[in-house]
Parts: sequence; C-alpha cells; structure tokens
Amino acid sequence: MSTSLVILAAGQGTRMKSDLPKVLHQVAGTSLLHHAMLSGAALEPWKTVIVAGHGAETVEASVRDIDPEAQVVVQRERLGTAHAVAQAREALDGFEGEVIVLYGDTPFIRPGTLRSMLEARDGHAVVVLGFEAADPGRYGRLVMNGDELERIVEFKDATAAERAITLCNSGVICADAGLLFDLIEAVGNDNAAGEYYLTDIIGIARRRGLSATAVTCDEAETMGVNSRRDLAAAEAAFQARARAEALDNGVTLQAPDTVWFSYDTAIGRDATVEPDVWFGPGVTVETGARIRAFSHLEGCHVSRGAVVGPYARLRLGAELAENVRVGNFVEVKNAQVEEGAKINHLSYIGDAGIGARSNIGAGTITCNYDGHMKHRTEIGADVFIGSDTMLVAPVRIGDEAMTATGTVVTMDVPAGAMAIARPRQENKPEFARRLMSRLRAIKAKLAEGKS
Ligand code: UD1
Ligand code: MG
Repeated sequence: MSTSLVILAAGQGTRMKSDLPKVLHQVAGTSLLHHAMLSGAALEPWKTVIVAGHGAETVEASVRDIDPEAQVVVQRERLGTAHAVAQAREALDGFEGEVIVLYGDTPFIRPGTLRSMLEARDGHAVVVLGFEAADPGRYGRLVMNGDELERIVEFKDATAAERAITLCNSGVICADAGLLFDLIEAVGNDNAAGEYYLTDIIGIARRRGLSATAVTCDEAETMGVNSRRDLAAAEAAFQARARAEALDNGVTLQAPDTVWFSYDTAIGRDATVEPDVWFGPGVTVETGARIRAFSHLEGCHVSRGAVVGPYARLRLGAELAENVRVGNFVEVKNAQVEEGAKINHLSYIGDAGIGARSNIGAGTITCNYDGHMKHRTEIGADVFIGSDTMLVAPVRIGDEAMTATGTVVTMDVPAGAMAIARPRQENKPEFARRLMSRLRAIKAKLAEGKS
C-alpha cells in the first residue's frame, strides 16, 4: 500500500513577526518544513503535496531545492484545516492509498510514529495521532470510547467536561485518500471559529458507521512553532536530543551543551568532540576523528584518525582523508586533502587538492579567486610548502617538490623541484644604528620646539 503526504503550511505565523513564511524558519540548520518532509520521507511517499498560502512563492522555491518532485498547491483563503487539505485533492487525483496529513510547523514527528499509524489503519478507517498533554491548553480533545475515537472537539467548542480531557489532537491524521476527500466534503463551518475543521471528519466517519482510533506519541514529537520563543525552544529540544544520541552512539562530547548539531550531522563512534564546536549541515565525521575546541564545520567530511582544530573552519567540499591534521586558524573549502597531509597553522586552502603526506607551512594561501572566477591549486604527494607561500591558481606543484618560505608561486613547479620567488636578502652594515640615532635626534628637536 502506498502513502502520500499532505503537509499544511499556509499559516502566516503572525507571532513570528517575520517577513519569512513561518515554515521556512530554521531549526538545526534546515527549515521546519524540511523537518516535516523528512519525517514523511521515511515512508517513501508516492507524492508529497505542500499546501502553501502566505509567501507561497518563497515556500515553493524552497521546496524545489529540497525535493523537486514535491508539489506545492496554494490555499488562497485560510478557511480551516479541512479546507487546506481539500486543496491537495487535484494533486492526488488518481492516487490510491493512504494519505497522512502533517503540519509544516511541527518538525519532530518520528517516522516510527507514522508507521504505527499506518499499522493502526488495519481495522480503522481513520487514525489520528494523539498525545497526553502536560498542559492541554487550547488543543483539540480526543473523545474516546475504549479504542474507538468518537470525535474530536476543538477547545473553543468544548464543554467543561470535554476540556477536562488530557488526550489531545496532534493534528496528524491518516486515512484512505478517497475516503478522506469524501469526508472533507461533508465538513461544514458551523462552529465557534467559523472554520472548516479537519477534525470534524472523525464524527462524520463515525456517523457513517466507520471506525476511527488514535495512536499516541510522546508530547515532545508534537511540539509546534508559532513564535520566536517556540523556535528557540524547538532548537533547544533538537540539540538536547542530538547530543544524547551522539553520546549513546559512542561519541565523546566533552561538554555536550556547547556542541551544536545540524539535522543531518553524522559522527562515528569513538570520535571525540571538544567544547564549543558547531556542525552546520552536511557534515560526516568518521570513527576516531577528533574535532578540537572552537571549530566550525559545514558540508565537509572528516575521515578516521583526522584531527581538526582548535579554531579550524571546514567549509563546503572540504574532504579530509585519514590522519589529516588541520590546525588553528586554518580554513579549508572545496579541497581534497589526502592521507596524512598537514595544514597546521593560519592558512586558507580553497579549490585545491593536497597529496598524501604533504606539509603546508604556516600562513600558506591558495589565491583561488581572480575577482571573477575560481581556480584550482593541485599539490602532489610528499610536497613541502614553505611558510607564507602564496599559490596563485591555477597552479600545480609536483610530487616531492618544495617551495621556499615567502614564495609567490605563479608557475607550475615540476616534481622534485624547489621553487623560490622572493628578493635576495642584503645586509647593510651599521645601517640600523645610524638610522635610529638620526630619528632620535629629530624627535628630540621637535620636543624642544614645543616646550
Ligand atoms: C489544530 C487542530 C487541533 C489540534 C492542533 C494541534 C483543527 C481544526 N484543529 O488546531 O485539534 O489540537 O491543531 O496543534 O484542525 N492551516 C492551513 N490552512 C488553514 C488553517 C490551518 O494551512 O486554513 C495550517 C496551519 O498553518 C497550521 C495547521 O494547519 O500549520 C494547524 O492550524 P492551526 O490554525 O494552528 O490549528 P489549531 O487551532 O492550532
Ligand atoms: Mg496551531
């Protein structure tokens, strides 16, 4: 049986006080909407339909980057959650299978929870995801009769007795596509909010003699974002979980609360992460690597046994092979650094390849940008680059070659050769002493004139 996703993302998120549509605000390096899409992606959906409203073009552009196959439909008027889901009907024309409705501002629903909802569909026409709320507040309440879900009542419409129910509606609903859209057609807006409530489909299904039930999950999964405070709380919740998972997976975090992960950070067991390290999106760190304090990594790969930092910056496309060393105040971007190579101090290595065991001296810069285009620097194996070498790309340094300290390399260096390009040193005897006494005399004269 195949599954499709409908993700509701029309809300403006007024309380965010933002020009950006709410679902595009980020937690752990990617949008809330992307988090929701990732939860659903684990079910390998037949189709993903996002219902956008406020900032629909911006949402669409972002969705295109994440998943070009996903379809964005627009809800022009915000008439309620049932009306929002109805906007996906045409996009799902011809689809036979389950539809799962998710909210784009609710990023943490686990794939396993969605799977258990699909399993519960066996024997029930509609399955709702509920949770026991510590503070039920204004959530919709699930009115149960044993295993049977009789109806969902919105807070605004609930009696005092119904408001006392603590089992709440997360908003996630699963039903057969054909049935879902049929039920939605029967939904009216005669309620306290004057909206078409998706939650009304339960009562309608029951009146038609169909069965409904609820699957429950941890309240943490249903955490939604409506304000910047919620966003910060969601970030904190994500980080707490990611840190705990890293520790459970055998990663040493010396000061877990100071390490920041992205949604897709992958770290192997027996890796060590020192305090104050930031992992942006797209980072993989292999087993036994060490990321030293105050390092900043994104879009990069660190192989086993490599040591990065302290104070290193690895940017998009930095690929460190086994046992590479990248030291303090070194920036590496779009560069493949082969096994055992060392870049230990104060360097910029961009658009480059560095061969195995090569040593890059302190202060080396790959001059990769001419103001219009980027050019590559290719350094062979067992090369010794002297301190403060400027490598003006495009340029190649052959295996076992050297550059002298302070050299500006503008031509290729053949294998085994030594490149030296700097003025020859000249020592002028007694020049320094004579110059200093002349300057002292001038200064003394000026001081006399002032007094
Ligand atoms: C909804 C549920 C409630 C549940 C709560 C969980 C309904 C009627 N109520 O209430 O039972 O406990 O979520 O958070 O479904 N949206 C649209 N278009 C619309 C209306 C809403 O896309 O016309 C989207 C919103 O952007 C949001 C989601 O649907 O992502 C839920 O809408 P919201 O207005 O927050 O519903 P609640 O009143 O919180
Ligand atoms: Mg809400």
